[in-house]
Formats: sequence, structure tokens, C-alpha cells
Amino acid sequence: MRYYFLRHGIAEDFSGSDFSRELTARGRRRVGTAAAVMKRLGLAPARIFSSPRPRAHQTAAIVAETLGMDLTISEALDFGFDLAAVQRLSQDLGADAEVMFVGHNPDMSLLVQQLTGCSVSMKKGGLARVDAFDAQSGQGELVWLIAPKVFDTLARDYSAALLTPPQKLPATSAEIHPLIKHRWSPVGFDRERGISRKLMLSLLEAARWSASSSNVQPWRFIVARREESEAFQQMLSVLREGNQPWARHAAALMLTAAHRYPKPEQYHRHASHDLGLAIGQLALQALHHGIYLHQMGGFYPEKARELYKIPEDFEPMTAVALGYRTAELEHLPERLRGREAGGRERHPLQEFVFAGSWGEAAAFLP
Ligand SMILES: Cc1cc2nc3c(=O)[nH]c(=O)nc-3n(C[C@H](O)[C@H](O)[C@H](O)COP(=O)(O)O)c2cc1C
Repeated sequence: MRYYFLRHGIAEDFSGSDFSRELTARGRRRVGTAAAVMKRLGLAPARIFSSPRPRAHQTAAIVAETLGMDLTISEALDFGFDLAAVQRLSQDLGADAEVMFVGHNPDMSLLVQQLTGCSVSMKKGGLARVDAFDAQSGQGELVWLIAPKVFDTLARDYSAALLTPPQKLPATSAEIHPLIKHRWSPVGFDRERGISRKLMLSLLEAARWSASSSNVQPWRFIVARREESEAFQQMLSVLREGNQPWARHAAALMLTAAHRYPKPEQYHRHASHDLGLAIGQLALQALHHGIYLHQMGGFYPEKARELYKIPEDFEPMTAVALGYRTAELEHLPERLRGREAGGRERHPLQEFVFAGSWGEAAAFLP
């Protein structure tokens, strides 16, 4: 029998009735993060039991929804939850079954201690796995204990993505955010992994909240995910031939367009600036989830205009390939494999950061 003991997430301060305390927004977010990691770890409890108190119930509901499971509220998990209740609730499950209990301290910590002999202190939103030697003996071993902070770190998909070689870390002249440091434009896309609808929405939402001149929001995106095979092939046909051999393996393709003439005869000179900014945000949100972008000027704008009926007041701007990276590049032509391994170069700050007069490198630069 495998037991998971989960302490509820961060809850409101005690005011009035302890019973009705709910998770805070941060508590919900952190439990959501933990639940996503639990899913990736392959947790598959046959049953999830929760204390009836809202803070535990809400914690359990987030986990149950993420794992695609039902949830059972049990009075037994309220204050005073003990080993006898653990055994009673799990007695009908098979010897190899997994079961999760979502409740309170000190019960959660005490139960782990009682079962394993290890003194533990479970944080709010922390999870312990205890493998019981036999369901009724009340003895087992502590296999792991995950603190919420560790869940947060594990949840950063990009940390996993970073392990995929090559990493192409640039030599920066100052500290920059890891997401920016790790962004680059790959040609080696993982043909097996698609981008879920939920993630795709998250990327587009990141673009949506970009700044834009007068809040005009001149960006437009046409999206084709690989699983929509006809739409994907159609978009692939708009790319220049040099981009097709690698872009065809991306999880999704996008065409971007900027609203050049929001009003007739009025050229909007910041339209492409704002579109670029939105794509920049989208790229970083994507990398946060381990998804890389490769943008392309190499496509046929007029063909795109015709195929997608893009109105005259919009200018087709770029194509974008998105997907998870792979280090296995056998499917790519030799020249592309070499490109994937190549280094990354940039002009020094002195060449483009001026002060006083054009071309005069600012004095504060290194
Ligand atoms: C607007 C734009 C157009 C681009 N067009 C292409 C393209 O058609 N084909 C291609 O392989 N890469 C293209 N790129 C990728 C650039 O070559 C790449 O961003 C640049 O070399 C810097 O490398 P990095 O993104 O890996 O840091 C384009 C990038 C941008 C922003």
C-alpha cells in the first residue's frame, strides 16, 4: 500500500470560525503547481480522501481535478485523523494500491512519524509518500517528502527543457533572467510532443497582455497545431523552402500580422514594434513551459494573404514555429544539424547603446 499524505495549502488567517477558512489565492496557486508536478510524477491514487474543512477540501479538489480523479470527503480526516482511520479507509483497496489523504497538522506529520519512525514537519501544501510494509501493520518507510518550495522549482518546465542539449548559453556582459538567457531559435523540434490547448491559451494570453501604442493591440495570429493536420500542412506551404525541412516537425505554426492601417490612409508606424513586443512575451511564456519559438521572415506574405484572406489593412509579418526541443536530430539534413550546434553571437552593447550623440557609446557601459 502506498500512502500519500498531503497537508492543505496556505489558508486565510484565523478569523471567526477555523472550520470555514479557505485557501488564499497564493495557496490555490501553489497547490495547482504541486498538482501539476504530481501529475508529471505519475501519481495515480485509487482514492483521494479529504477532510471536510474548506482549506483541505479545496486543496484536494485541485489535486483531484488535475489528476482526473474523484474525491471523497470524509469526517475521519478532520482534526484527530489517526492510523486506525487510515487503515479503515484503505482496507478495501488492493495491497499495491495508492491512496491519498488530504488533511491537517499535526495529524499529517504525526501519521508519517508513526508509520515510519521519522520525525517530519509537513509544511502547508507539502506531500509525503509512505510505502506501508503491509496495510494493517502500521509500519512503512518514508520514500520522499516534498516541500512546496521544491514543487515550485520542479514545476518550472524550463528547468527540464534546459537539460536538453545543446544549451547555447550566451556569454552575457551582465546578469540577465534565466528565461532570456536560455531562449534561442532551435531547428530540432520534438516530433512526439504537441502543445496542449491549455498551454497554447497561456502563450496567447501572454501576448495579449503586451504593451502597445495607444493600446491599439495591432497584433493578429493565425495558429495551426500539428494535430490539425490539414491546417498545419497548409501553413507549412506558406513557408519558404529553406524553412520547411525543420519547421514541419514543430508542434505548431503561426502566422503573425500587424494592423498597418487601423484607419484608412493612416499608417500605424508602431504596428510591427507592438507585434514584436507581443511575440517577445509569448516567447518567454513559452520557454517558461519548456516550449521554444523559431521565428521566420522566410515565408510568402502574398500567398499567406490569399490563403487566409488577410485584409489589405493588415501586413503579414512573420511565421513562427513552436515546440519542445529534442537532442535527436537524425531526421534533419546535415547542414541543419551543424546549425543547431553552432554558437550564439551578439553585437557588444557599445555598438548600440549611445549617449550624448549618435554612435557615442554611453559612458556607463563596461
Ligand atoms: C523577424 C525574424 C525573422 C527570422 N527569419 C528566420 C528565417 O526565415 N529562418 C530561420 O531559420 N531563422 C529566422 N529567424 C531566426 C534568427 O535567425 C535568429 O533569431 C537569430 O539568428 C538569433 O539567434 P537566436 O534566436 O537563436 O538567439 C528570424 C528571426 C526573426 C526575429
